[in-house]
Amino acid sequence: MNDATGMPASAVVLGGDSELAAAVLAKLAKRRLERVVLAGRNEQGLARRCSELSALGVGQVNAVHFDATDHQRHDALASEIASELGDIDLVVMATGALERRGIDELTSAEVAQSIDTNFTGPAAALLGFARVLRSQGHGTLVVFSSLAAVRVRRANFVYGSAKAGLDGFCQGLQDELEHAKSGVRLMIVRPGFVHTKMTTGMRPQPLATEADVVADAVVRGLETGAGAVVVPAALGPLSVLMRLVPRPLWRRLPS
Ligand SMILES: NC(=O)c1ccc[n+]([C@@H]2O[C@H](COP(=O)([O-])OP(=O)(O)OC[C@H]3O[C@@H](n4cnc5c(N)ncnc54)[C@H](OP(=O)(O)O)[C@@H]3O)[C@@H](O)[C@H]2O)c1
Repeated sequence: MNDATGMPASAVVLGGDSELAAAVLAKLAKRRLERVVLAGRNEQGLARRCSELSALGVGQVNAVHFDATDHQRHDALASEIASELGDIDLVVMATGALERRGIDELTSAEVAQSIDTNFTGPAAALLGFARVLRSQGHGTLVVFSSLAAVRVRRANFVYGSAKAGLDGFCQGLQDELEHAKSGVRLMIVRPGFVHTKMTTGMRPQPLATEADVVADAVVRGLETGAGAVVVPAALGPLSVLMRLVPRPLWRRLPS
């Protein structure tokens, strides 16, 4: 169970090789994290993350296979991980892939794949884990949405629209979990541009930040019981203004 300051003893990361998730777990390892399951596709990357967590003193660390687009597996995986971990205090949804190609370069199948990776798959998996947490009567879901979800931009509308779908799904799930007095929390994290392997080689956006800054904001959000956090905080007011810009101006934003 999370302690009085919102800190977990057990955690699952979906997209277990994510740099942002790794930065969060490194912070939590210094608090009271004892048991972790990293779920992902890249065996080597997961093994490296497991070693890092063990070196930080986390006693029980395991990796399992997880592909967000394998929807039929999600419910069984959630049950299997719950049996392995005992109670799950924290689930971090960190799966995502930034589609950088334009409409002339993408096939319809690739568009569908991107939306599955960033929206359909994560949403379906989240529901499986939300049901496990609800049956426990406690636990926290942390979901990496994006500033790109606040208002979809011409420059990355495939990724942005998928993240907007996931963000809306999470807002509805938040309301439902609260309405049902489930004891389960969900926190939506909306980072701007962060230097991780996802953004390698890209021109940084204004107020670009580091994984460590995002991790600090996530931990602070867990402590304060925040429903949503924008990182870095300076982007908070901008995310409000973004919604107000008239379409003719918005569509002229440079890519
Ligand atoms: N970095 C940023 O600027 C930024 C900004 C806003 C939001 N975010 C979001 O933050 C989250 C974490 O991103 P990050 O920066 O930590 O990037 P990252 O290190 O690339 O992590 C993304 C993870 O998602 C995994 N993944 C992709 N497709 C998957 C699938 N079908 N099934 C399972 N796992 C899959 C990747 O694993 P594989 O190695 O198997 O591909 C990777 O480990 C993502 O949701 C991202 O959209 C990032």
